[in-house]
Amino acid sequence: MVIPIDRRSPVPLYEQIVQHIRHLIETDALPAGAKLPATRELAAGLRVNRNTVNTAYEELLAHGLVTAHVGQGTFVAPRRSANGASGSLPAAPSRPAAPRVDWVSLFSKGSSFAEDAFPSVPRPAAGRRPAISFAAGGGNSALFPLDQLRRSVDRVLREHGETLLSYGTVDGFPPLKTFLRGYLLERGIEAHEDDLLIANGSQQGIDLAARAFLDPGDVVVMEAPSYPGAISVFRALRANIITIPPLAAGLQPGYLENLIQRQRPKMMYVVPTFHNPTGLTAGLETRKTFLRAIAGYNVVVVEDDTHERLRYDGPAVPSLKAISRSRQVVYISTFSTVFPGLRLGWVVADRPVIERLAAVKRITDMHTSGLIQAAVYDFCQRRWLERAIRQVNTERQRRRDAMLAALDAHMPEGVTWTRPDGGLWLTVTLPDQLDSLSLLDDAAAAGVLYTPGPCFHANGGGQSELRLIFSQLPLPSIDEGLRRLGRVIKGALQQDTPQKPRQKASIDPMM
Ligand SMILES: Cc1ncc(COP(=O)(O)O)c(C=O)c1O
Repeated sequence: MVIPIDRRSPVPLYEQIVQHIRHLIETDALPAGAKLPATRELAAGLRVNRNTVNTAYEELLAHGLVTAHVGQGTFVAPRRSANGASGSLPAAPSRPAAPRVDWVSLFSKGSSFAEDAFPSVPRPAAGRRPAISFAAGGGNSALFPLDQLRRSVDRVLREHGETLLSYGTVDGFPPLKTFLRGYLLERGIEAHEDDLLIANGSQQGIDLAARAFLDPGDVVVMEAPSYPGAISVFRALRANIITIPPLAAGLQPGYLENLIQRQRPKMMYVVPTFHNPTGLTAGLETRKTFLRAIAGYNVVVVEDDTHERLRYDGPAVPSLKAISRSRQVVYISTFSTVFPGLRLGWVVADRPVIERLAAVKRITDMHTSGLIQAAVYDFCQRRWLERAIRQVNTERQRRRDAMLAALDAHMPEGVTWTRPDGGLWLTVTLPDQLDSLSLLDDAAAAGVLYTPGPCFHANGGGQSELRLIFSQLPLPSIDEGLRRLGRVIKGALQQDTPQKPRQKASIDPMM
């Protein structure tokens, strides 16, 4: 299906697709019962994100123009008769059909960025062998410390259930904050309880910090590539994102000062340790250069230390917060290392910042669940946290090593990759003529999935890159998945036509 797409039009892409298909249906160019192209096919043909096509199809569905059948596809609905009933179904005898609400036209522009925050990857066609996914995260469920956590939940419910099931304080469960004070001190961060806010994971910490500081148009500096969840937070607030290379690549003296003087950012968001998606860590000297560069400028630094505990080898590097004498750093970390589904993290910052973040948080959710905070506090008190981290890290290290070995074994010449000392993933760089987005369909057909590089670039780029999560899969699947990927890359390299250039618009949810 050819749909004329105008990328400069203020009409969102999905809406352009809706309007065109609606026109085809209304003019009978698409008759009742006709099958619409699969979302993946149409997205690839139009060079738009698959979520854009999904949204368009959902809107057509909401308007009753199409019907969807799981596993079969999307079809043009039977034409409605004058009384609004569909051609083939009798009208409901007593209740008139409730008028449809055009949700899509009511949604805020900011919320549309949420749709593409966590990019979807194609699934292999039905009948194909199941995919080995290097794109899926979610924690190592076989290693979840279920029994211990159950005992902690039982105990805190038994002993403090009535208090924990009432409303609590927005800044967090006081004993957990006191525990975190000691935990942070072991990492060189001195924080009073008043400098701490418990949040629903690092993700909420980023969101609260962004909401507390950024107005539309404010400049925020972030690394490229970087964590898509942060990109979508800044986009949703209509911040003006400026990108810098990852800190792990080092910093030229004077580079940041220059940038700050020219761009006057309000906020800088960085992931110096086990960066997403490269897995790399910035060295101590780079961190000091960074802190010297920002000193004296009125800018807040958000340090995302989500993956700090995932070190498998090499010496630990202190966080920016630990080595900074200035109070500019807002530090964010999490318990997601062990149980991401509990949604528990924390923010350390100057007291006035914590007070403002707490006020913003109260608007959203009143406070993080008291029961979860108390259970995790009990769990930590019994030293189970350290044991659980040791267990998951031993397993993840084996998987990282297996991935590095499989990359060595299966990747053709010209492909390179990062070698992280920890974390959950690494970045592969393809030879320049290949495009990780275009290649994804071939990879899905071959039964292997990854996250394409453009998902991690706020302002375009990353076409040669792709991210592979090593922490989730058993060792034989890692090897088999990379054997498949190696074959796909070799096949693409043997084709005559270069895949590049590829339009950035294909993954950019704003277009
Ligand atoms: C850099 C970074 N920050 C934050 C998060 C989200 O962490 P949490 O589960 O604590 O919200 C992730 C998740 O992968 C991440 O990679």
